[in-house]
Amino acid sequence: MSKECIFKSFQDLNIIHIHMENIFYQHQLCVLNGNRTQALNFFNAYFAFIKKHIAEEEEWLFPLYEEIGKSIRGGSVKIFLGEHQKILQFLDKINGLLNSWLQFNVHDQNTLNVLDIEYRCRELIEHHSVREDHFLFPELDRIISSNQKHDILSQFSLPLLNLSE
Ligand SMILES: [Fe+2]
Ligand SMILES: [Fe+2]
Repeated sequence: MSKECIFKSFQDLNIIHIHMENIFYQHQLCVLNGNRTQALNFFNAYFAFIKKHIAEEEEWLFPLYEEIGKSIRGGSVKIFLGEHQKILQFLDKINGLLNSWLQFNVHDQNTLNVLDIEYRCRELIEHHSVREDHFLFPELDRIISSNQKHDILSQFSLPLLNLSE
C-alpha cells in the first residue's frame, strides 16, 4: 500500500521551507526576549530538521536533477551542495555561540553576535530556498512522472516540534 503523502508536487516542498522558517523565527523571538532555554530548544529542533531536510534532498532529489541542472546557470547540483555545506557550517557556528550565550543573564555583545550571525545565515538559507523554488522543484515537476513523483514525495515530512525537555 502506498504511503500517505501531503505533497502533490515538488513545488509543494516549499511548505517545508516555510515551516522551518517559522521554527527559526520562534527561536529568534526567544533570543530577543532573553528566553534562553526555549531559544536553544527551538534552535535544536530547527538544526535537527534542516539536517534531515538536506539529507533527504541530497538522497532523493539531487540524483534525479543532476543531469538537467548542469545546463541551468546558477542551478547546478554542485552549487546546491556547496550551499548545503555552508548552511550546516553556519548553523554549527551558531550552535557554539548559543551555548556560550546561555551562560549569561543579560543582553550584551553575545546577544548581538548571535543575532548578527543568524541574520547572515538566514540570508543564505533564503537565497538557497528561492533557487530551489525557481530551478530544482519546477524542473523535477516537469521531468518526473506522477507515479514516481508520489513515491519520492512520500519520503518527505513536515517538521514536527517536540520541545519537551
Ligand atoms: Fe536544499
Ligand atoms: Fe530545501
